[in-house]
Amino acid sequence: MKILITGAAGFIGSHLCEKLLEDGNTVVGFDNFDPFYERTVKENNLKTSVLNESFKLIEGDIRDSESVKKLFDEHSFEVVVHLAAKAGVRPSIEDPTAYNKVNVLGTLNILEMMKKNDIKRLVFASSSSVYGNSTDVPYKETMNVNNPISPYAATKIAGELLCYNYWHLYKISATCLRFFTVYGPRQRPEMAIAKFVKKAYDGNLISIYGDGSSCRDFTYIEDIIQGVVVSTERDLGFEIINIGESETIDLNSLLGLIKELTGCDLKTENLPMQPGDVDKTFANIDKAKRLLDYAPVTSVREGIKQYISWLRSNPEIRS
Ligand SMILES: NC(=O)c1ccc[n+]([C@@H]2O[C@H](COP(=O)([O-])OP(=O)(O)OC[C@H]3O[C@@H](n4cnc5c(N)ncnc54)[C@H](O)[C@@H]3O)[C@@H](O)[C@H]2O)c1
Repeated sequence: MKILITGAAGFIGSHLCEKLLEDGNTVVGFDNFDPFYERTVKENNLKTSVLNESFKLIEGDIRDSESVKKLFDEHSFEVVVHLAAKAGVRPSIEDPTAYNKVNVLGTLNILEMMKKNDIKRLVFASSSSVYGNSTDVPYKETMNVNNPISPYAATKIAGELLCYNYWHLYKISATCLRFFTVYGPRQRPEMAIAKFVKKAYDGNLISIYGDGSSCRDFTYIEDIIQGVVVSTERDLGFEIINIGESETIDLNSLLGLIKELTGCDLKTENLPMQPGDVDKTFANIDKAKRLLDYAPVTSVREGIKQYISWLRSNPEIRS
């Protein structure tokens, strides 16, 4: 298959490129190297894929409809995996307009070009943050998502709604995957595990927002990729599917694991909970098991071990 991956240079996108290429697909990656984190990190993410002759990287911005048009004029895709986004909850509160432009207008530009070019299959990266502060755990896809607590979450709900709309009007199939906190090699540097492990090694102070009782369903990158790859292969019409590990761990226990696995003493401080941060995430993954044969295998202990081992073999990331 010829597959477009937007956001190809990012954490999830770069792993997906490698896996889809390994499986014999032709992949076009589209990314604007958004400065949210360093360009060199993203170039490094793609260093294996760029050596593959079935891979082409195009630098461009999904907000720019002319660039997106050119992309679709020059290539014909069977499937689009739309990962490009401004990610992260807290910065979306600082700059909601930027998040809306990329995550909503950018998604609309992709859908419009799919419509114009008669491309019928989309996999869209949504997020567990759409569940807001619901206490009804584990989260099921049928739950109400009318109460987002950050602009980021609101843009992801908007993206899902646009996907539904294009399915309804133009029969573009869309599998909207709600990812639950993804981690592993190449994790975005501002995310909890990457940040805590680095601070543990550097002996820097780790800020804990709240009393450490907030919980996350951390999902290892290989498990996420398994769910995305199957989604590219199956036409399910329109579906929203949770992709998590379906295990949840509180922040204090996570820090305990990092202390044990790095062998470093952690310096910590407790700060108030941040606006936009949810108290708990926990995925019900029955639907993913049923529709995607999804079977996550990596415990958070094993996943952090893998992350640390990757970090040790990539010392430039630590510096
Ligand atoms: N990592 C997680 O825990 C997680 C959880 C839920 C949802 N998601 C979603 O998964 C997707 C990938 O996340 P990630 O963690 O790999 O993030 P990432 O920031 O590493 O990757 C996103 C990529 O999109 C690119 N991008 C941003 N704006 C763009 C634009 N205007 N035009 C073209 N490219 C643009 C960035 O340069 C980056 O390479 C995002 O949609 C994110 O919202 C991630």
